[in-house]
Amino acid sequence: MLKTHSCGELTKKNVGSEVTLAGWVDRRRDHGGLIFIDLRDKDGVVQVVFNPDTSPDCHKVASQMRGEYVIQVTGEVAPRPKGTANPKLPTGEIEVIAGKAAILNPSKTPPFYINEDIEVEENLRLKYRYLDLRRARMKKNLELRHRVVKFIRDFLDAKGFIEVETPILIKSTPEGARDYLVPSRVHPGKFYALPQSPQQIKQLLMVAGVEKYFQIAKCFRDEDTRADRQPEFTQLDLEMSFVEEADILGLMEELFTAMMATVKPEIKVIKPFPRLSYAEAMERYGTDKPDLRFGLELKDLTDIAAKTEFSIFRTAIDQGGKVKGICAPGCAGYSRRQLDELNKLVQSLGGGGVVTIALGSAGSKLDALTIDEVRSVAAKFLTLDQVKQMAQLFGAEAGDLLLIIAGKPRLVDNILSELRLEMGKRLKLADPNQFAFAFIVDFPLLNKSEESGLWEPMHHPFTAPRDEDMSLLDSAPEKVRGKHYDIVCNGYEIAGGSLRIYTSQLQKKIFRLLGYSDKEVEARFGHLLEAFGYGAPPHGGIAAGIDRIVMLLVGEETIREVIAFPKNQAAVDLTFDAPSAVSQEQLKELHLRLREEE
Ligand code: AMO
Repeated sequence: MLKTHSCGELTKKNVGSEVTLAGWVDRRRDHGGLIFIDLRDKDGVVQVVFNPDTSPDCHKVASQMRGEYVIQVTGEVAPRPKGTANPKLPTGEIEVIAGKAAILNPSKTPPFYINEDIEVEENLRLKYRYLDLRRARMKKNLELRHRVVKFIRDFLDAKGFIEVETPILIKSTPEGARDYLVPSRVHPGKFYALPQSPQQIKQLLMVAGVEKYFQIAKCFRDEDTRADRQPEFTQLDLEMSFVEEADILGLMEELFTAMMATVKPEIKVIKPFPRLSYAEAMERYGTDKPDLRFGLELKDLTDIAAKTEFSIFRTAIDQGGKVKGICAPGCAGYSRRQLDELNKLVQSLGGGGVVTIALGSAGSKLDALTIDEVRSVAAKFLTLDQVKQMAQLFGAEAGDLLLIIAGKPRLVDNILSELRLEMGKRLKLADPNQFAFAFIVDFPLLNKSEESGLWEPMHHPFTAPRDEDMSLLDSAPEKVRGKHYDIVCNGYEIAGGSLRIYTSQLQKKIFRLLGYSDKEVEARFGHLLEAFGYGAPPHGGIAAGIDRIVMLLVGEETIREVIAFPKNQAAVDLTFDAPSAVSQEQLKELHLRLREEE
């Protein structure tokens, strides 16, 4: 090794020993006489002092050092002179008095500061990701990710699981996104598809008798990127044979609670995780991934609204819609500007606007409220009694603000779920040190696509229908619930899974319901149906988004911050500039010709 110690590990106990260090110049201060270098490596920063009187040659080398130069220093660890200790730094009580120094490699001036946690434009950070990753915050994120994955491997190993790697060059495995395709050179006109998840492969492993499989698996989905979505991401993928829903949910609850206790013990987790049905989650929070760290629950005001003379409510209800709302405590005094901001948010989500009802002012009694104290565009069209009925549904008090949305049921829920999050943020209702896990269960098996009018799987086509709903498959598919469960945490879906279909007969029936022709089924899923003919055990599993879990653990707002080399929001890897054009030669080998751009 070119070093005897790492910079970050040095403390008072090393005083008096000679050490050789190597790393990057974090900061250099030239005081005319003494030169101070903060030397950084993967473990931290230590101060190195170059004295022109005692080590003139060494001092000369140091005078040429600049930020991000790679250097090697040998010297003695000494206590810092009285009054100069830096309590903020783990190495702050000592410094290294340089006796020998060398520049191993100079550096150009970096495009942004490495040593300061300042806002840098994200695309610039991604272009120079190797510099961005030198920053303390990113280093911390990568390390925590490593610890999470290591914890998972150790935990599942102890439970008798084995990790099996599954292929990346494979066939379409639908999870609701588009496939990434890889053309075959050897087989003209044919393509591999990158797996959207190892779903079918892990099911084949169950047929193979593996019984307890897991994998830290790369998945590929060609869909629009978002803060919590990347084209390429990582799952903890898991499958078990001879299990019931409770076995998998119990295992995951144990895994997540033990993980938190190990990697971030200061986090509060409430056990057992609450269970909410899909219907209940939608009713109370407008989303199947609610942030349960705070209340602000949605209430259905349709019945009250139907009796008012307010045309926005009446039109929505006449068109088959509904009226729901939330109550923001203490917000009756919101200014015009604050209300406009909320209205803009609603409009950005496709809504017409939000109807606000300000209930008098704090301190007064709701019972004593007069209609003159109700501030709302709807006030003229509501009776005092109707306002009070609404307020009572929420258990509101004087000084609260009702935020009401009228329209198509799905849109109303969607908008209110976002408004709820926005108000939660503004009112600082969510405890940053709490992880509110919950199981969402009893999902409908199918969902009718608003665009195509076709049935789509709510999860994926391999999810088993609930036994008691099986008879509804032909008569009322919309009423069939699936053996599908999600795990949510603080407003994110962090895992999803199901018990699977394991007979070819039922699997074929579901494919038919989804509109696949027999020929298509054979071409796309023939391998799975064939396998089910050879003693497939009952099985089920789950997959958890590693990126999302780590993002929550380190308190970041996007998963890009916890992936070493992520794609940007336009799905481009800026470090490598990928995707990129390829040579005519390569295209020819792959039997591809590019269409002229119109
Ligand atoms: P699902 O599609 O729900 O299930 O994915 C499981 C979990 O993976 C994470 N996730 C993502 N993370 C980042 N970027 C993405 N584009 C992305 N898409 C999904 C989420 C999600 O909860 N094969 C099934 C699992 C099973 O049934 O066992 C599956 O992939 O955290």
